[in-house]
Amino acid sequence: MIQVDGLTKDYGPRRAIDNLSFHAEKGEILGFLGPNGAGKTTTMRILTGYMPPSSGKAMVAGYDVVDQSLEVRRRVGYLPETVPLYPDMTVYDYLKFMADLRHLPSAEERVDEALEMVHMEDRADGYIANLSKGMRQRVGLAQALLHSPEVLILDEPTIGLDPAQILDVRNLIRGLAGERTVLLSTHILSEAQQLCNRVLIINKGRIVAEDSPAQLQARLSGAQRVSVTVGGDGDGLVNLVASISGVAGVLSAKGNSLEIETVPGLDVRASVARAIVEAGYDLLELRNIGMSLEDIFIELTRESPAAPEMAESEDLESFEE
Ligand SMILES: Nc1ncnc2c1ncn2[C@@H]1O[C@H](COP(=O)(O)OP(=O)(O)O)[C@@H](O)[C@H]1O
Ligand SMILES: [Mg+2]
Repeated sequence: MIQVDGLTKDYGPRRAIDNLSFHAEKGEILGFLGPNGAGKTTTMRILTGYMPPSSGKAMVAGYDVVDQSLEVRRRVGYLPETVPLYPDMTVYDYLKFMADLRHLPSAEERVDEALEMVHMEDRADGYIANLSKGMRQRVGLAQALLHSPEVLILDEPTIGLDPAQILDVRNLIRGLAGERTVLLSTHILSEAQQLCNRVLIINKGRIVAEDSPAQLQARLSGAQRVSVTVGGDGDGLVNLVASISGVAGVLSAKGNSLEIETVPGLDVRASVARAIVEAGYDLLELRNIGMSLEDIFIELTRESPAAPEMAESEDLESFEE
């Protein structure tokens, strides 16, 4: 269980996270989705008791991360962005070393169990130096699991892995959830969709949206952008296109090409093509533009007064994508 209220962290004059509040329940995989620099790692370091916040409060597994950081660390498994592994140790020796460092009783058993959880029993005697990146990530997961933590905090667990290794690590994580609370960060939208029950979108240190994966999908597919290019100088094109039924608005116009946004769920390409040709323009190009994660971030962080309220999931229908 994770409960965060108004968490803020400043690095000198720089505010890395700004008044974050969220919670995660037992059995849940909560996704922390955001671009580089969003504040994911900062938040995770605070939640694991490695660094105090500048203000705000966080409870993890029932303990305060500042006042009871030792209790927190006993109950949290942490896979940092880069796991400090020792290449000239064997997998087994490394895990045993980590278990002893944490003063775990019956360390050998704990190591065997952790190896089993990440399906590496047969690699125990191999040297870390000889492991693939995916295997090393599994060792990282194993060290996070040594003390059977009730909360798992995984910082971009699939970063730098090849596609097969990514699938492998994702499957492992799915299997680990169960009775635990998992907080996982990623900058990959599809990863958040596949792994998480709930996703917080974080940008520039703030939570800009909270969604179920299904709602995220709706944001991606619900609305459409269409790019239009005509011959000539395109005089009068903006007014013409804006008046077509199903066109929600013109996003940008540059001479003879423009980008339009459609009412969610409508394919306006045929009517746009017809109207343009009937008005006497030569239609050079007309195509759908998919929404990228970056587009969503821009949309979610747009501060124009015309933008719809972003934080409420109920407002999805009115999302301009
Ligand atoms: N130790 C640090 N000192 C100063 N600024 C930092 C430090 N760590 C992170 N930052 C800044 O804080 C912001 C959030 O970083 P981070 O939490 O690493 O984001 P993310 O993990 O989402 O990429 C960034 O602007 C980053 O440059
Ligand atoms: Mg990070």
